[in-house]
Amino acid sequence: MARTDAIAVLSARPRAGFVETHFVRDITERALSYLASGFPVHLCGPSGSGKTTLAMHIAHRLGQPIMLICGDDEFGTSDLVGGQNGFRRRKIIDNFVHSVLKTEEDVAQNWVDNRLTVACREGLSLVYDEFTRSRPEANNVLLSVLEEKVLVLPASRNGNSYLKVHPNFAAIFTSNPEDYAGVHKTQDALLDRMVTIDLDYFDWETEVTITQSRSGIAMEDAERIVGIVRAYREAGVSELAPTVRSCIMIAKVLSLREARAQDGDPVFMQTCLDVLASGISRAAKSAKKASRRRDLVFDLVRKHCSHEAETPVLTSLAHA
Ligand SMILES: Nc1ncnc2c1ncn2[C@@H]1O[C@H](COP(=O)(O)OP(=O)(O)OP(=O)(O)O)[C@@H](O)[C@H]1O
Ligand SMILES: [Mg+2]
Repeated sequence: MARTDAIAVLSARPRAGFVETHFVRDITERALSYLASGFPVHLCGPSGSGKTTLAMHIAHRLGQPIMLICGDDEFGTSDLVGGQNGFRRRKIIDNFVHSVLKTEEDVAQNWVDNRLTVACREGLSLVYDEFTRSRPEANNVLLSVLEEKVLVLPASRNGNSYLKVHPNFAAIFTSNPEDYAGVHKTQDALLDRMVTIDLDYFDWETEVTITQSRSGIAMEDAERIVGIVRAYREAGVSELAPTVRSCIMIAKVLSLREARAQDGDPVFMQTCLDVLASGISRAAKSAKKASRRRDLVFDLVRKHCSHEAETPVLTSLAHA
């Protein structure tokens, strides 16, 4: 982690267990080609679709330091560009001639660049995660950055209110779809300046490989877990659709407790129920709905983990 002024800059490298399947490579290469053509990239998808991880991976591939900003409803423009931060006091005491004492004192406001300004000034890769959680007014400042390559700053910035964006500056945005809680509708003009790649949940191969590599469990168990979670997600019985995070949770607990993804394994059954079948709202807690979700988990475990269960695709490929 390097520092410019008081702001930390990240240098990313793939985390242990990072998975690069055809699906991940395809999105990465597309994004890199748009960035190389001078266009910002926007990854938009549901929670757990891998937006933040992909954005950091793409930024890492750009090979320069990364400035990470996380969208926030409380943000104003100054949280992006900077602002006055306290005062700088200067006092000169002139006592050169012993019989004469001359003092001079002035106080100036102290401007501090914030993350967007530092990224534009230094030519960093900006990852603006969940940028639609910030209010559109706060993000307006991006319009000229992305189009005219100029950052317009308040005149109070040491008299220097235009900053030419460094040619190496690159921007990657992520967002959840607009129907998510806490997300603002973005101005069309901003969206029009970026290439949006729509993400959905991972494909089968990627979800299984992530589950296996993040937990270290047997590939066969990873396939069973992912089969159950995907079927549960598609059934649409839960307000919160389970994602690859649910797969990783179940898999890590199995690994820690040396359990297997088998019908009748008590650790596996209890973990699936806790991770998948809970309800978050009062409506979802109604006894009837709760028992429907639990029954579905039991059915899916039976279907995916009994001896007669179909041979999973990746294992059969591995044995071929
Ligand atoms: N290529 C990958 N290799 C390994 N793990 C991954 C990969 N992509 C995503 N993951 C894991 O999947 C989970 C979800 O990914 P991520 O946090 O990037 O999703 P997201 O779309 O940003 O979700 P949210 O909208 O909730 O922030 C995380 O635990 C992440 O570490
Ligand atoms: Mg995220």
